[in-house]
Amino acid sequence: MRLLIRNASQLVTVSAHGARTKRGAEMRDLGIIEDGALLIDEGKIAWVGRSADAPSFDRSSPDVEVFDAEGRVVMPGFVDPHTHLIFAGSREDEFALRCEGLTYQQIAERGGGILNTVRATRGTDRKKLRSLASHRLDRLLRYGTTTAEIKSGYGLTEEDELKMLQAAHDLSAEHLVTVVSTFLGAHALPPEYADDRTGYIELITSQMIPYIARKGLARFVDVFCDSGYFTREETVRIFESATSNGLGLKLHADELSATGAVEDAARFGAASVDHLEYISKEEIGLLAKSETAAVLLPGVSFFLAQRYAPARELIESGAVVAIASDYNPGSCMSFSMPLMITIACTQMKMTPEEAITAATLNAAAAIGLSGERGSLEVGKWADIIILESSSYRSLPYEFGGNPIAHVVKNGVLLEF
Ligand code: NIG
Ligand code: FE
Repeated sequence: MRLLIRNASQLVTVSAHGARTKRGAEMRDLGIIEDGALLIDEGKIAWVGRSADAPSFDRSSPDVEVFDAEGRVVMPGFVDPHTHLIFAGSREDEFALRCEGLTYQQIAERGGGILNTVRATRGTDRKKLRSLASHRLDRLLRYGTTTAEIKSGYGLTEEDELKMLQAAHDLSAEHLVTVVSTFLGAHALPPEYADDRTGYIELITSQMIPYIARKGLARFVDVFCDSGYFTREETVRIFESATSNGLGLKLHADELSATGAVEDAARFGAASVDHLEYISKEEIGLLAKSETAAVLLPGVSFFLAQRYAPARELIESGAVVAIASDYNPGSCMSFSMPLMITIACTQMKMTPEEAITAATLNAAAAIGLSGERGSLEVGKWADIIILESSSYRSLPYEFGGNPIAHVVKNGVLLEF
């Protein structure tokens, strides 16, 4: 089956001419084709060009569908490279406390925060978690996210972490959204190990990671390395285990304080370091020289009313900058990539072009998928969104609603 999309006011390809990422000034080049068209064959992009040059099909060709974009923007679907979207319960009462002036850390110190969601998630079975998350993925897709990473980390026992990863595995088989799983056993110290940190790290490194790798239940291992959570030494132990078991690496780094852990991540060749609100100049220099993507989470700074990561410095230094939602019940209860793009522009001073590159091609790179998704280039999967508007610059500008008119996933035009 083939699908021809024609009459795009702007075909925003985000093409990197075969490269896997864009850095520095390249992030402003969206590879736009005016009055563009695109042909999809067997789910993949077969041709990209101007509508006037598009292959012509007559109406009798049974295996070709022609879609008229009617002067709208056609661009790659969003890739959200950092979510915690499998969880049970709600933290709206903690949100109310934050509105009264309590901080995220103060709530965590009182036994709330991540451990609040851990209690709810432990008490929920795999089937129910899967259905909660599946409903969330439906909404992501409607808002233009065609690929999402999902982390465990609200189980913190072997059984409950596996339950989360198995739910993610079910979703990767059942749901249209492409799902990439990450094991985040080191999200918080479980209460059962309050007096035995070493025991928990031992459980993660000797038991959980080898089992998860053997069963193919995750592609990446992540650690929340920050004050009150895990140390750099513990992070390195977990990275060593992940690496020797063939899993990729990610890191929650410099969110609440400056830890310097970006250095460890870069040394181990991590796919990404995420958050970076307190990143140092030295660490920015290290990222600029590495392949490790800097995943910025504008929604977290917005929702927690905390400082923003230095996007301009990161871009200007030449780091691979991506953005993600971090969708989770504590620090960002929003999955909307269009909203993240607006916040990145207004609060972090990214340009609309940089923010779009960060939410597509560079976001795919942060989860190791930019060879197959994240831009509209021949040979890649056809994950495409069609905006309501005729200008891509309306995306950050007109905020708070849903700017997406249509979604094409793996070459199939979806009905909503
Ligand atoms: O990325 N920083 C650690 N983890 C999440 C928050 C999770 C939660 O509060 O439930 C984050 O912000
Ligand atoms: Fe996170």
